[in-house]
Amino acid sequence: MAFIEIEGIEKRFGSYVALADINLAIEAREFVTFLGPSGCGKTTMLRTLAGFLTPDAGKIRVDGAVLSSVSGSVPPEARRMGMVFQNYAVWPHMSVFENVAFGLLVAREPRVSAGEIDARVRRVLAAVGLDGLEGRHPGQLSGGQQQRVALARSLVVEPSILLLDEPLSNLDAKLRERMRTELKDLQRRTGITFIYVTHDQAEAMALSDRIVVFNKGRVQQVGNPRTVYERPANLFVADFMGLVNKVEGQLEGRDGDTLCVRVGVQSLLAQAHGPAMATTGPVILAIRPEAIRLGAEPGAVACNVITGNVIDSTFLGNIVEHRIDIGGAVLRVQAGRWVFHAPGERVVLSIPVEECLAVGGEA
Ligand SMILES: Nc1ncnc2c1ncn2[C@@H]1O[C@H](COP(=O)(O)OP(=O)(O)O)[C@@H](O)[C@H]1O
Ligand SMILES: [Mg+2]
Repeated sequence: MAFIEIEGIEKRFGSYVALADINLAIEAREFVTFLGPSGCGKTTMLRTLAGFLTPDAGKIRVDGAVLSSVSGSVPPEARRMGMVFQNYAVWPHMSVFENVAFGLLVAREPRVSAGEIDARVRRVLAAVGLDGLEGRHPGQLSGGQQQRVALARSLVVEPSILLLDEPLSNLDAKLRERMRTELKDLQRRTGITFIYVTHDQAEAMALSDRIVVFNKGRVQQVGNPRTVYERPANLFVADFMGLVNKVEGQLEGRDGDTLCVRVGVQSLLAQAHGPAMATTGPVILAIRPEAIRLGAEPGAVACNVITGNVIDSTFLGNIVEHRIDIGGAVLRVQAGRWVFHAPGERVVLSIPVEECLAVGGEA
């Protein structure tokens, strides 16, 4: 049995179904991220895990014990879970030390001595890189430092599970990236199971052992970052995880999982993926812009080689993005910044067969 077992969880607000049949097993020490667009149910799932919401169906078990079910929920303060929110809610009138010590007081741990409080607060402040700032007030700290105070406050109770709801979204881009690395380090060092919520797919990929992609209250896919990016379960996931060309074509035949798809007057071999599909009819191919090579690819990979006309090229700094008309579809192609093509130029494109995914789902 996994450390955390989420079984058939459903949550309604009135007639609105915010979570539908969520099933998930999370191992101890895992870093799992709930990823999805705004309103898809991420916070609702996290709050249900924390015990702030009672499910309308299903069960949540931690370490074998049922914490949430229709018949009742163990209250949040009895769950040994820490929680960190987007708006860090540190107390402005308390020093850094007092803010963190306050975490121990609200946890109502039996008889923690003053000496022990001091030691634990200092240890956790060192862990989040705030040592030396114990006496400051939040108003004298940067946004990143305030967020560390919130993190320290939830860590000081030594939770076995830390729930984090978009904890970095109020920080600027550079700081967000640095905090990512620090959070990941902290998780590895402490061995705490992290359940992290974000709508930022890059953040999810950088941090997670596994990503749970949500849409409209349902889990779309669970997998490690590479799997979710390279083998999306459906078009929603393909789209949400990064730029993708969605190419409409006609299925002309198949040999096992290899499909032959006509796009305009050209044919592409593609990989069937997801639910079984018919042998003829319309299909949508998902192709990542960076998977397409300009020129003939000499490699050993099975490649589609097609032609197209350059519409335009946009310099984006680290890459150049070309729009290329292949007749029946326009592809976005990302290439190195040293690759230049003039509008109207005829080019050869190579697309590995395994990078052409025929995926189901809404376009
Ligand atoms: N207390 C509530 N009452 C009514 N509707 C709610 C409540 N909490 C959340 N919702 C609705 O449930 C859906 C999921 O919300 P939420 O879990 O906060 O999404 P996310 O965190 O993914 O942005 C949204 O449509 C939201 O409006
Ligand atoms: Mg939310």
